[in-house]
Amino acid sequence: MKILIPGGSGQVGTLLARAFVADGHEVVVLSRNPRPAPWHVVRWDAETLGDWAAEVEGADVVINLAGRSVNCRYSARNRRLIVESRVKATRAVGQAIAQAARPPRVWLQSSTATIYAHRYDSPNDEATGIIGGSEPEAPDTWRFSIDVARSWEQAANEAIVQQTRKVLLRSAMTMSPDRGGVFDVLLGLVRRGLGGASGDGRQYVSWIHDRDFVRAVYWLIDHPELDGPVNVAAPNPVPNAEFMRTLRSAWGIGFGLPARKWMLEIGAFFLRTETELVLKSRRVVPGRLLESGFTFQFPTWAEAAADLCARWRSGAVISTDPSDLRGLSNGRAVQRV
Ligand SMILES: NC(=O)c1ccc[n+]([C@@H]2O[C@H](COP(=O)([O-])OP(=O)(O)OC[C@H]3O[C@@H](n4cnc5c(N)ncnc54)[C@H](OP(=O)(O)O)[C@@H]3O)[C@@H](O)[C@H]2O)c1
Repeated sequence: MKILIPGGSGQVGTLLARAFVADGHEVVVLSRNPRPAPWHVVRWDAETLGDWAAEVEGADVVINLAGRSVNCRYSARNRRLIVESRVKATRAVGQAIAQAARPPRVWLQSSTATIYAHRYDSPNDEATGIIGGSEPEAPDTWRFSIDVARSWEQAANEAIVQQTRKVLLRSAMTMSPDRGGVFDVLLGLVRRGLGGASGDGRQYVSWIHDRDFVRAVYWLIDHPELDGPVNVAAPNPVPNAEFMRTLRSAWGIGFGLPARKWMLEIGAFFLRTETELVLKSRRVVPGRLLESGFTFQFPTWAEAAADLCARWRSGAVISTDPSDLRGLSNGRAVQRV
């Protein structure tokens, strides 16, 4: 297959591109700042149609991941960039597909599991889940993230691409042992004795193991009956306190200093990020994937954490830096740490 990945230079795109290349597929990444990679990288501005649109012709699959990182303070400027980068990139991808003579058969459009409400009581699947934004106790920053997700999905929904199936990936945090990824950050806390519960620890964490993420993407490509929103998350989200306890146990460390809400607020300020990323209860389950027959290799966090810790420890970490070509073999760049 030819697989085009706008915004494919980040954590998720690199995971996917490496897996696709290893499986013998042709990968083209669209980037605003092309760098050498084991696949073809083409420049785009993530806003307007340009020469890059020729890459859509004859592509089998488009997976659009582009958008300014949400890991920042939600200042007025950053809010504008977070929304606009996603909406403009999605519109541009939609226009390129709409005008293609040989459009892709499927467009997987990134969205986020954060679109669902902050809740503890029941899990959110696609059919019965509650879209967030009106929870009485939700701070303004949490409502902002939901507005982002809604605008992002709306931009994709508005695109008229009659010959192309559209899937909205409502993804949970993808856990991989790569440096700089979310698992690496959480494990770093555990290794320093700081991996206790965050806040009151009751908030749910939705997550997905990197191998299941890649397998779910293949599944969505291969299943023409699946379109619209699909939750891409493991079936067993767990409360934060249990999530961190399980990670500590997988690493083999008994104690982890907890972080109270006020500590997180101060820490987030200095780290230029938002506490929403750890304090919002994300209880999201993959209703449609399971109904369609998808099975998870890592359905529980205990199994996933054990595998991720072992891979992190083994030192053979798949680099997230596409320019790191050291040790490239069989389509995989392996970075020794
Ligand atoms: N990581 C997760 O677990 C997770 C979970 C749920 C949803 N998501 C969503 O999935 C997408 C991919 O995730 P990721 O972790 O791979 O993100 P990432 O590492 O931040 O990569 C996203 C890519 O978007 C491009 N980008 C950055 N700023 C941009 C801007 N202002 N305008 C247009 N493009 C811009 C960048 O490519 P260039 O600089 O090369 O142009 C970057 O490589 C993101 O949109 C994210 O919100 C991720």
